[in-house]
Amino acid sequence: MSVTLTVNGEERTYDGDPRAPLLDVLRDHLRLTGAKAVCREGFCGACTVHVDGEPMVSCLIPVGSLAGRAVTTIEGISGGGAQLNAVQRALLEHDVVQCGMCFPGMVMTISACLDRNPAPDREALKAELSGNLCRCTGYERILDAVLSISGQEVMAQ
Ligand code: FES
Ligand code: FES
Repeated sequence: MSVTLTVNGEERTYDGDPRAPLLDVLRDHLRLTGAKAVCREGFCGACTVHVDGEPMVSCLIPVGSLAGRAVTTIEGISGGGAQLNAVQRALLEHDVVQCGMCFPGMVMTISACLDRNPAPDREALKAELSGNLCRCTGYERILDAVLSISGQEVMAQ
């Protein structure tokens, strides 16, 4: 079966099993390896992408359900190339990234959150990130970095 969808602004066609997870199509077929394959069960958030602007875990989405939909991956979040978006810049400037495995998914979830609400408070951000697991950072510095985008200076708690 053939499925045509838009990925990072380009129309792409996948010929294969429509039950294949979007994550595998991105990584193995389109060679977009930014979304990470960690739990593959919807628990960790490392594979998060945007589907029509909403953050979703790509390991649980059959590609056949995405005909005509628009997918954005971490590779396309800032329009492609080497440009970084505000979330990526804040995380780097605050020296938050450790092993980095969770960060593609974190950036996708946070970016969608800020699109809806440019100045969320700490509790709202925590709730948004409840589906993105990080074993390294303890989360507080991630929250500080993101809050700084809207000029909120908050000491890590
Ligand atoms: S790999 Fe998809 S949620 Fe963990
Ligand atoms: S930085 Fe290592 S899992 Fe988040």
